[in-house]
Amino acid sequence: MQPSNKKATLSFSDGSPSVDLPVYKGTLGPDVVDIRALYHDAHVFMYDPGFLSTAACQSSITFIDGEKGRLLYRGYPIEQLAKTCDFMDICYLILNGDLPDAKQKAAFDSLVTHHTMVNEQMHVFLRGFRRDAHPMAILTGLVGALSAFYHDSTDITNPRHREVSAIRLIAKMPTLVAMAYKHSIGEPYIYPKNDLSYTGNFLRMMFATPCEDYQVNDVVERALDRIFVLHADHEQNASTSTVRLCGSSGTNPFAAIAAGVACLWGPAHGGANEACLHMLEQIQARGGVDKLGEFIKQVKDKSSGVRLMGFGHRVYKNYDPRAKLMQQTCKEVLAALGLENDPLFKLAMALEHIALEDPYFIDRKLYPNVDFYSGIVQRAIGIPRSLFTAIFALARTVGWIAQWNEMLSDPEYKIGRPRQLYMGHAVRDVKR
Ligand code: SDX
Repeated sequence: MQPSNKKATLSFSDGSPSVDLPVYKGTLGPDVVDIRALYHDAHVFMYDPGFLSTAACQSSITFIDGEKGRLLYRGYPIEQLAKTCDFMDICYLILNGDLPDAKQKAAFDSLVTHHTMVNEQMHVFLRGFRRDAHPMAILTGLVGALSAFYHDSTDITNPRHREVSAIRLIAKMPTLVAMAYKHSIGEPYIYPKNDLSYTGNFLRMMFATPCEDYQVNDVVERALDRIFVLHADHEQNASTSTVRLCGSSGTNPFAAIAAGVACLWGPAHGGANEACLHMLEQIQARGGVDKLGEFIKQVKDKSSGVRLMGFGHRVYKNYDPRAKLMQQTCKEVLAALGLENDPLFKLAMALEHIALEDPYFIDRKLYPNVDFYSGIVQRAIGIPRSLFTAIFALARTVGWIAQWNEMLSDPEYKIGRPRQLYMGHAVRDVKR
């Protein structure tokens, strides 16, 4: 980071000495005021629950301009990447900093392909779960359990070990997600097939059976690959920050990514795609477009506790560029599958139209986010709703592990340990 030409001084009205704070600038985005020495110099903490105004790290991976609704992976706009790259291109870009040439891409594809199998013991581990366990409960367990199998790549101080762990996690997530799905429907697991693409392999592991193979449908494969691309990374969101904080203790990468999976599950974060489709299905069941006015009224009544899932974002105060691309993918997939009259898609478009005209949403800068249309696409290609967030985790694994690796490669990194504003009892004696 570069020193900014701005200076910052913190002064106090009680005559305490003021403190000069360095200001730094990045390549894009707001400058930062460096408060690392603040407690030492002024014996005060900065207070920022939810981290609305806090930069927890430096990063060169992803940049979001929330006001303009722009998203860059390693400087490339998501709109260009979504149109010209597949998910393996994006994994290489996010991990290594630039897009692969043909030779690098072929080598990377092969490396990932040859790590897609999991230890056979994982089948035994999976059998312990109830058939109706939520796939995210299973995935949290399976990813954490990987650390029990790969002791040979858990020395986090060894860049080679970090690289092997990254490939193992990216390669094995589709296998684990497909296994969780097969377990929930009582079908046998399908092993990876090395002559398929990353995304085609996942579809086959999901939908093939020992009795009947699965022919990968190009439209479905491209749509799902696009979903993976759009979910790959997103700066310091809650689950990525969880991976960083968990990893900062020096734990192994599998445990840190399992923490990210657990965090992503929440409906305010990655669980929103499942919650959004459920919301649309409920409105549809109650009468569809005719009931939208009633639903919007409920959303605007805070006491109802009803939120418009798939809308709003901590950073985007403009349209989430991923939502636009997801809506486009929706149209393409539904048309290709002869589902252009899908009632839920029409309902979602009508709901978006009403919300974007309503001052309640306009004043709060609430726009569709990545989760608003992704569920409709996944439903159209046959993914069950309960698996949506696991698919999000599958795609986000490359972002999580790249951010984890970036943190560990930073010579300045320390274990994360926030402080607090204590509001509890002052010292008091036990009276027994
Ligand atoms: C993801 O961080 C990331 O980058 C995440 C993500 C990624 O790729 O990693 O982009 C993925 O998590 C997308 C977000 C998915 N979540 C949802 O769609 C759930 C619904 N949205 C929200 O709960 C909410 O918008 C958040 C959690 C996304 C953002 O919450 P903030 O930034 O804390 O905003 P807030 O809750 O303080 O809301 C500000 C105002 C409030 O009203 P007022 O108190 O000002 O009157 O907007 C209202 C909120 O009540 N509001 C909503 C709303 N979202 C915010 N009202 C109705 N419906 C909503 N969806």
